[in-house]
Amino acid sequence: MKTVTVNTASHQKHNILARKTRHLDVCLDPSNRVESSSSWFDQLTFVHNPLPETSLDRVTLSASFLDKPVQAPFFISSMTGGSQAGFRINHDLARAAQTLGIPLGLGSMRVLFHHPEAKPQFDLRAEAPDVPIFGNFSAVQLKEHAPEDVAALCAELGLDGIAVHLNPGQELCQDEGDRDFTGLMGPIESIAKRTAVIVKETGFGIPPWTARRLLNAGARYVDVAGAGGTNWSRVEILRGSRQKKSVDFSAFPFADWGIPTALNLAALGGRHFSGSILASGGLRTPLDFAKAIALGAVSAGTALPVIRQVVSGGADAVVQYWQDIFTDVKRIMLLTGSTTVRDLSAAPLILSETMISAVRQLKHAGDWRRETG
Ligand SMILES: Cc1cc2nc3c(=O)[nH]c(=O)nc-3n(C[C@H](O)[C@H](O)[C@H](O)COP(=O)(O)O)c2cc1C
Repeated sequence: MKTVTVNTASHQKHNILARKTRHLDVCLDPSNRVESSSSWFDQLTFVHNPLPETSLDRVTLSASFLDKPVQAPFFISSMTGGSQAGFRINHDLARAAQTLGIPLGLGSMRVLFHHPEAKPQFDLRAEAPDVPIFGNFSAVQLKEHAPEDVAALCAELGLDGIAVHLNPGQELCQDEGDRDFTGLMGPIESIAKRTAVIVKETGFGIPPWTARRLLNAGARYVDVAGAGGTNWSRVEILRGSRQKKSVDFSAFPFADWGIPTALNLAALGGRHFSGSILASGGLRTPLDFAKAIALGAVSAGTALPVIRQVVSGGADAVVQYWQDIFTDVKRIMLLTGSTTVRDLSAAPLILSETMISAVRQLKHAGDWRRETG
């Protein structure tokens, strides 16, 4: 197996560990308003089935992810690469994922190219031998670090693939952030030839035409990671104003920026995207998770609630959090007449007029100009 040569020179100035730690602190403090206003899951509702023709003990959540069988169509979303608390957090998350039988997304592995001593944080196979684990890297950073080196790192850590994140909204709000987002498709295409790639946003969504380009470039899944949950521009503002008690977001243009997750999923519904969409961004209740699957997602994940659970109660708290969701989603499945996840993905939904109109516009952005002009 190829050993990756890590460039440790002169990168202390980025002080990645300190920045990640500060991000984590901001996210963990419940008095910080890090979430944007709505993921739009309240814009749709299931149709109750009074004659479900199934029984609760037959209802199964079993699914697959990156060609591996999993216990539920849910995943722990990418987090915490390289914060100072990362070792304990990642190892607890790995134990929880293994107990639950669900996939685990790791936080950005860029830190390993600057702080190779952080590698044990990402070395989780011993704790989670059976579940899919995927790494994480920023698309912009793939221009700096050769895709073959990043793919080799994934192989070394026994990962099933890598999530490549698109986060221009976050970077623009960071003083030290990237400003050049040109030329990202080439590196994405290149790494997709070497390992399974999930392309994700980090809370602002991915419109249909971009999802199509990414899948055509070889991405295995696109995770919309839409708006309505953790908003990284809010996190960046809060990170910068640590001395202030609260921040007034009312005049800040990006506090509610992005495509709400449920709207994004509905616009991606349909056979073109079948089997290739993941849902995340503001999924908070069992209904949100069930609706995400009914909107066509292969798997639905969350980040912020999980990080809060793992830091406060370790692996056990994470297991309990997800088991409660499993229980309620199974009940939702029964009441929609769904025995399997495939049944749930075809369960009837009622969409609000607002949602129907917005989906049409998102699928064919620009139509309103023709219609009204
Ligand atoms: C503490 C924390 C750290 C995160 N770190 C990363 C990361 O390293 N890479 C990434 O792609 N996304 C990262 N995310 C974004 C999540 O994967 C997810 O896309 C986003 O938080 C929206 O999901 P949520 O509303 O359930 O939190 C992070 C989120 C949190 C809360």
